[in-house]
Amino acid sequence: MCGIVGYVGRRSAVDVVLDGLRRLEYRGYDSAGIALVSADGRIEVDKRAGKLANLEAALAEHPLPESTCGIGHTRWATHGVPSDRNAHPHRSADGRISLIHNGIIENFGQLRAELEANGVEFLSDTDTEVAAHLLGREYAVDGDLTEAMTRVCARLEGAFTLLAVAADDPDTVVGARRNSPLVVGLGDGEYFLGSDVAAFISYTTEAIELGQDQIVTIDREGVAVRGFDGQASEGKPFSVDWDIAAAEKGGYDTFMAKEIHEQPQAVADTLRGRIDEAGQIVLDEVRMSDQDFRDIDKVFIVACGTSYHAGLVTKYAIEHWTRIPCEVELASEFRYRDPVLDRSTLVVAISQSGETMDTLMAVRHAKDQKARVLSISNTVGSTIPRESDAVLYTRAGIEVAVASTKAFLTQLAACYLVGLHLAQVRGIKYADEVSAILDELVAAPGKIAKVIENLDPVREMARESAGSDRVLFIGRHVGYPVALEGALKLKELAYLHAEGFAAGELKHGPISLIEAGTPVIAIVPSPRGRSLLHDKIISNIQEVKARGAKVIAVCEEGDKITAAHADLVIETPASPTLLAPLLTAVPLQEFAAELATALGRDIDQPRNLAKSVTVE
Ligand code: G6P
Repeated sequence: MCGIVGYVGRRSAVDVVLDGLRRLEYRGYDSAGIALVSADGRIEVDKRAGKLANLEAALAEHPLPESTCGIGHTRWATHGVPSDRNAHPHRSADGRISLIHNGIIENFGQLRAELEANGVEFLSDTDTEVAAHLLGREYAVDGDLTEAMTRVCARLEGAFTLLAVAADDPDTVVGARRNSPLVVGLGDGEYFLGSDVAAFISYTTEAIELGQDQIVTIDREGVAVRGFDGQASEGKPFSVDWDIAAAEKGGYDTFMAKEIHEQPQAVADTLRGRIDEAGQIVLDEVRMSDQDFRDIDKVFIVACGTSYHAGLVTKYAIEHWTRIPCEVELASEFRYRDPVLDRSTLVVAISQSGETMDTLMAVRHAKDQKARVLSISNTVGSTIPRESDAVLYTRAGIEVAVASTKAFLTQLAACYLVGLHLAQVRGIKYADEVSAILDELVAAPGKIAKVIENLDPVREMARESAGSDRVLFIGRHVGYPVALEGALKLKELAYLHAEGFAAGELKHGPISLIEAGTPVIAIVPSPRGRSLLHDKIISNIQEVKARGAKVIAVCEEGDKITAAHADLVIETPASPTLLAPLLTAVPLQEFAAELATALGRDIDQPRNLAKSVTVE
């Protein structure tokens, strides 16, 4: 959370920084600010509460002087309400330094008291401002911004990415990172810093990933990296394979609509090249041998939000295909309850951004306990993959809408690959089933496309449900995590009370929420094969209908039994039960987006949220 951009080069810095902030706005959007260093040694700052558009309007009315060096920030508030004065950048007492920050400086209270005792006057309620003042004081010592930053970092505790510019040094931006993201973009005579590569994707696809506790200095000549200990270091170069078109709406009204439509391709891309001609799964960058996988006797999945729901689906698949016990845990809870982990435990960390602090901390805890960590991430160069023993990248491309859609489906695809790979290397008893499932997995993108082609009735149902004060989602087996995900999407986007329940649990309490006309969306498993599950959910549908609910059923095409009991049906193509979430989640995404649109909500940037949550 919080988007950070820095630039030094030949272009107009205001244009580059604003372009970067536009692409990073999903990281936070309660205020935004920019600082530009002019050639004659002044720092010009503008910062505004509200979305980036407020800052852009202000700059259009009162342009800042020409500059080719600057920093910019889009904020998700932690300390201090969203306001002009709490917006970043913050400045040192003498006004010669401007600084932006992502993260939380945990010892800011003590540092602030110390600075105030020395006569420093604070202008904001943020934790960040202490770093600006400290940097100003250190810079005054020797006029070397990199050295000053190194000394300041030694005093800070917590998580932080900092970028700073100095009025006396119009061609330099210095950055520092601990537990928060920062990547470097390499241009020709121009260099970029960003919270992620989206910040500079319009200008370059060549980048450097920084390690933990590193300081980076960019000027027109190049990039220098050092550790917090002052020792010279090097980042790891990588190329970005997201193209610029991926970061544009491409004719859709919202990024979310575009990303829903990109799902068949994203899933196909994630599967591409990972199943060889002999039907064996090949996992790239999985730095674990087959023997390592054979040695595993327990799997833990850790994740947050939508990624957690992908993990819940995966539990059903891994336990069925491999017979290895699999637990799924919210990353924010994991390390605080002392889970039982050892060398034969595989911890699978799922994170679209690769930066979620709760998940990163769970990964570190798992590694401390000697467990092996495999991460599933969409972001090359991000922290969680870098700190994992192995990584499997989803290939969703950049996901801009805060509410995750294509990242979720690609996480499911990647998780299925991991489960099937485990099953193959361990030689389990369902070998035939595994090979049939692989065929079905390869067919999934075509089926997802079919679901997307038929979303009109879903949109109509969503508009009809817009007057309801709550919507309930029920499911069984893998339909239960899909119900949770459907409810999460609706909460995020429509700010409506939405809950997902295991259908069998309804009668143990939640059924009291049903009133005449309450929409209940039921995720119905295939009537083929596991018909017991199907029978049970039909009973649950009858229970809610008997209490006045309006039942919308997401079911397999041709499921006449469900059609006879539900008020409305949304059909999805036939699929093996374990893979069905790839299809059944899609109408729920569209339902949430359409209902939220009917209520006039901001689909891509829902209130209070951020896409990449880099604080605990
Ligand atoms: C935030 C986002 C969610 C996302 C979750 C986990 O809460 O708003 O959409 O699912 O973080 O993010 P990750 O990047 O770790 O998958």
